[in-house]
Amino acid sequence: MTTTRQLQDEIMKIKKEKDICILAHAYQNHEILEIADYVGDSYGLSEKAAEAPQQTVLMCGVRFMAETVKILSPEKKVILSHPDADCPMARQFNVDEIKKLKEQYPEYAVVAYINTTTELKTVCDVCVTSASAVKIVHNMKEKDILFIPDCNLGAWVAKQVPEKNLQLLQGGCPIHAGITKKEALAAKEQYPNAQFLVHPECVNGVSEMADYIGSTTGIMDYVKKSTHNEFIIGTENSIVAHLQFEYPDKKFYPLSKKLVCHDMKLTTLADVYHCVKGDAGEEIILPEEVRLAAKKSLDAMLRLG
Ligand code: 13P
Ligand code: SF4
Repeated sequence: MTTTRQLQDEIMKIKKEKDICILAHAYQNHEILEIADYVGDSYGLSEKAAEAPQQTVLMCGVRFMAETVKILSPEKKVILSHPDADCPMARQFNVDEIKKLKEQYPEYAVVAYINTTTELKTVCDVCVTSASAVKIVHNMKEKDILFIPDCNLGAWVAKQVPEKNLQLLQGGCPIHAGITKKEALAAKEQYPNAQFLVHPECVNGVSEMADYIGSTTGIMDYVKKSTHNEFIIGTENSIVAHLQFEYPDKKFYPLSKKLVCHDMKLTTLADVYHCVKGDAGEEIILPEEVRLAAKKSLDAMLRLG
C-alpha cells in the first residue's frame, strides 16, 4: 500500500523535475499544504501567482483562484487541481444583471469580491478579498459603491468605512452564511474560555460576537500572536485541523460541524499526483479579450490593496 508520505515524495520529485509551482488555499487538506510551495488566503495567492518563477502553476483550490492566476500571468500554464471545484458564490450574479445596475446607477463604482467568475470581473471596477476589502474600499476615490456578491462581507466592510455609501446585493457563501447566531451562542456557552474568531462571510449576528474577524490567513496569524489557549474557529473546518496541528498544546473548536466547503475538499493528494504527472486537472484557458477586461479589476485590487 502506498503511504501518504510516499505519494508526497513522488509529487515533490515530479514537481521539481517539471518545475511546477503548487499553490494551495488554506482550506485544502493538510497533506496537500505540506507539498505546496505557498499556502495562503485569496489575496496572498493572487500576489504569489504573479511572482512565481515557475512556468507551470497548479492551483489547489477552486476555479476562480486558478482563473485569477491565469488573468495575472497569461504566459504561464495554469492547472486547476479538480475541474469540478467551483465556489458557488462566484456565479450568484451574471454580467447582464450587473450591466443593468450600472446603467441605472452610473455614479456607483462596482466592487467585486474575488470569489466571482472571470466574466463578472469584466464589468467590475475593483476586486477585493476578505483580507484587503476594508483597505481598498477606504482607498477608493468613489463614495458610492455597489458591492457584489457577498452581502455579509459587504456589511462588515460598510461598518468599518462609514464615510462610504455601500449598496449590497443578496449574495453570500452558503457555508459560512448558514451558521446562525443561536449556534454561535451555543458554542460560546460550551467553551466559555475560548476566543471566538470568524470569517467576515458569516452573518452579522455571528460576527458581532467575535473577538476577531478576518480572512483565513488573518485568523491563523491572530492565533500565532495570541497568548490565549482556546479558540472557537468560525470558518471552514480545515483551519481547525491546521491550527491544531501547528499548535498541539492549544485547543481549537469548530464553530459548527457544517462548516465544510465541499468544493475545496474535492481535491485529494492523488489528484495532485495525477496533476503533476500531467494526466488530471484542467488547464485554464481564457479568451484574451475577456482576460484583459477582467485584469483591470485585479490590477486595481493589487494597486489599492
Ligand atoms: P480568504 O480570502 O479568507 O482566503 O477566503 C476565501 C474563501 O473562499 C472563504 O470562504
Ligand atoms: Fe466559496 Fe464559501 Fe467555499 Fe469559500 S467556503 S470557496 S466562499 S463556498
